[in-house]
Amino acid sequence: MEIGKVGVLGCGLMGHGIAQICAQNGWDVVVREIDQGRLDRGMGKISKQLGRAVEKGKLEQADADAVLARITPTLDYGDLADCDLVIEAITEDLDGKLDMWREVDAIVKDDAYLATNTSSLSVADQAAVTGRPDRFIGLHFFNPAQVMPLLEVVRAEGSGDDAVQLGFDLGDALGKTTVAARDNRGFIVNRLLVPYMFDAMRALEQGVGSVQDIDTGMMAGASHPMGPLTLADFVGLDTLVAISEVMVESYGEDRFAAPDTLRSLVDAGNLGRKSGRGFYDYSGEKPVPVDPA
Ligand code: 3HC
Repeated sequence: MEIGKVGVLGCGLMGHGIAQICAQNGWDVVVREIDQGRLDRGMGKISKQLGRAVEKGKLEQADADAVLARITPTLDYGDLADCDLVIEAITEDLDGKLDMWREVDAIVKDDAYLATNTSSLSVADQAAVTGRPDRFIGLHFFNPAQVMPLLEVVRAEGSGDDAVQLGFDLGDALGKTTVAARDNRGFIVNRLLVPYMFDAMRALEQGVGSVQDIDTGMMAGASHPMGPLTLADFVGLDTLVAISEVMVESYGEDRFAAPDTLRSLVDAGNLGRKSGRGFYDYSGEKPVPVDPA
């Protein structure tokens, strides 16, 4: 199927990036949020990224304007009706996603494909509440979606071959490296990455090293672009707790359990970079590590 118009549900950390790369690829995009504030913030991030690309001479101003013009921000599910593909990137909460899919499935044209960008929830459970499980797949992008090369294409039990192929074709069109992943909790990357970040937090709790030293250790010692605690802040500490709960339930292994430090930070409203504080304080010019007392 030719994609002409893509719907993106959610214009947050992942949704704004997915909307941007789809529009940069020449597709019309409708991006839907639950309130005007969130929508404006997400669209503001897209404008800022495009502005930076123009400043760096990587994009002409006219092309940046054309990308923005291809994106229709909306609060109304009705605007998704004629999309060929709808990708959801809303909060990592199964009940919320199921309610949303029931509504969207009734509105979007019958031959459209649906995809979830879930980090950890079951793709099949989401497909099951729609009338088109054969047209439903997982498309797991990585943050920042504009930069990270990987796209995990997830085949759920009822996904049809056409839908899975569409996922790979979409990845190719966006210049992503694609991998096929089974519909298990965390797919490939989060299955490995999340316990690694949790281990870094446990190392911090056990006094193995400071926030800065643990991060520097993995950057300089293993050539990671970010240390694990910076990465946790970057992903969002509340998102990590949500992923942990799904993984513990699925695998029943302690290594997937959210460490105390992570829970305490989230309970205190410190969600990482997006809230201005997590393992680092982001209020100044440069992030400052916040070591546990
Ligand atoms: N949005 C858009 N573009 C961004 C960006 C953002 N948030 N952050 C950086 N970029 C762009 C920059 O504009 C720059 O573009 P250019 O090459 O065209 O000039 C390029 O990325 C490199 O950025 P910087 O020079 O500012 O910084 P770095 O070289 O340090 O790279 C990084 C930043 C790409 C974020 C790098 O630190 C990195 O790869 N970090 C690891 C990220 C990672 O592991 N992500 C996966 C998280 S897990 C996940 O998403 C799964 C989920 O389900 C939890």
